[in-house]
Amino acid sequence: MKKMAIVLAAGQGKRMKSKLYKVLHPVCGKPMVGHVMDVVEASACERTVVIVGHGAEAVQSYLGERAEYALQAQQQGTGHAVLQAEPLLGAEEGTTIVICGDTPLVTAATVQAMLTIHETSGAAATVLTAELGDPTGYGRVIRGSDDGVQRIVEQKDCTPAEGAVKEINTGTYCFDNKKLFQALAQVTNENAQGEYYLTDVIGILQRGGERVLAHCTGDEAEAIGVNDRIALSEAERFMKERIIRGHLVNGVTVIDPSSTYIEAGVTIGADTVIYPGTLLRGNTVIGEDNIIGPQSDLTDTVTGNGVCIKHSVTDRSEVGDETTVGPYANLRPGTKLGRKCKVGDFVELKNAVLDDGSKVSHLSYVGDAKVGKDVNIGCGAITVNYDGYNKAVTEIGDGAFVGSNVNLIAPVRIGDGAYVVAGSTITQDVPENDLAIARERQVNKPGYAAKIRNRAKLKKEKKDSSS
Ligand code: UD1
Ligand code: CA
Repeated sequence: MKKMAIVLAAGQGKRMKSKLYKVLHPVCGKPMVGHVMDVVEASACERTVVIVGHGAEAVQSYLGERAEYALQAQQQGTGHAVLQAEPLLGAEEGTTIVICGDTPLVTAATVQAMLTIHETSGAAATVLTAELGDPTGYGRVIRGSDDGVQRIVEQKDCTPAEGAVKEINTGTYCFDNKKLFQALAQVTNENAQGEYYLTDVIGILQRGGERVLAHCTGDEAEAIGVNDRIALSEAERFMKERIIRGHLVNGVTVIDPSSTYIEAGVTIGADTVIYPGTLLRGNTVIGEDNIIGPQSDLTDTVTGNGVCIKHSVTDRSEVGDETTVGPYANLRPGTKLGRKCKVGDFVELKNAVLDDGSKVSHLSYVGDAKVGKDVNIGCGAITVNYDGYNKAVTEIGDGAFVGSNVNLIAPVRIGDGAYVVAGSTITQDVPENDLAIARERQVNKPGYAAKIRNRAKLKKEKKDSSS
């Protein structure tokens, strides 16, 4: 049977108290409506219509070609929202999944189970429900004597007896498409909120002699509809646990899941160990046998195998096999480290490419640089790449040695195998295999220390006696 989906994403989300439209709030780094679209796409629908209204442009630009769109200019309720898809889908025969853009924890497996029940039973509608210890805020599912669903009552319209029902509507449904739009035409806004409720369709179908079923998920987390920041933080917690469990199943060790944050788009190879206090964000890709953390924050970073990153921050960077980073390194965008490199403590790299085996062990800044193989950059050496207006490039050839506290005033090139002695300020290119020295010569004055000490002492005594 033909499958379609309607995603409700037009609401503003007033209770979020946010400039960002509700369905664009991220949960583990991905906007809620993105999680929902993943589920819809896993159900292999032939057509998907997203209902947009508040923040329509932002939602459309985020989802792009993944869906068709229908505009709900005024938000008059979930039933009214679905009605906006009628010009696009009204003529279709088949099954339509309706899902809310603010329920990021619904899984593809659960939607599949609901679809199977729906299609094998020939029901007009099947509702995804959950039993909650505290059902506050959700629509209550009123069952009939035959285990079918009679109707759904919104919290604000509940009698005390209805309010005591623990089975709630998750806001995900399957409908016979034709019957959905027929029933929607009969929905009114005579209720506590003066809105056209999609949930009224359930009662209308049931009273019309149609079969309405429920599929109750055993996982309370799936039911979370995010209406405020409290629910957002709960969604974040459940999603985080689910993501980490997925990595554990795949052979990753996470020493302390409670202090580890891994976003939805991250992949991690087997036998990697993640230490506490670590954040892995964006499209980060971690190889096998890595040690990441403790206390590391990686965004859009790609690592090879056998990499070690401790107490460090990385962003839009690449780290080759068996390279070590940190403790306390900062890899800024455009950093690319080859194999077996070493980046040590208090080193900042930006837009810097280091070929295999090169080392920047401590207290350096290397920016806008192209560094060859097996280069050693000494403690405190820096590239001077910025004049307040322009960025300039530093090149360092294979096997070069840059001594401690060297300033490389860019643009400048250090040739292969060259040697720059400690403390030099380099303003001119250094040819291959040459030695460069650019510092004052040392002068020793025999016995002069006592003289200078005495002079300082007298100065202090004079000052003390005059005060
Ligand atoms: C809705 C259900 C409730 C269910 C809960 C599950 C109704 C009447 N109630 O309540 O039974 O327990 O979800 O989370 O359906 N939206 C629009 N246009 C509108 C109104 C809403 O697109 O005019 C979208 C919102 O952006 C949101 C979704 O529909 O993504 C749900 O709307 P919301 O106002 O959050 O409904 P709830 O009160 O949570
Ligand atoms: Ca909601």
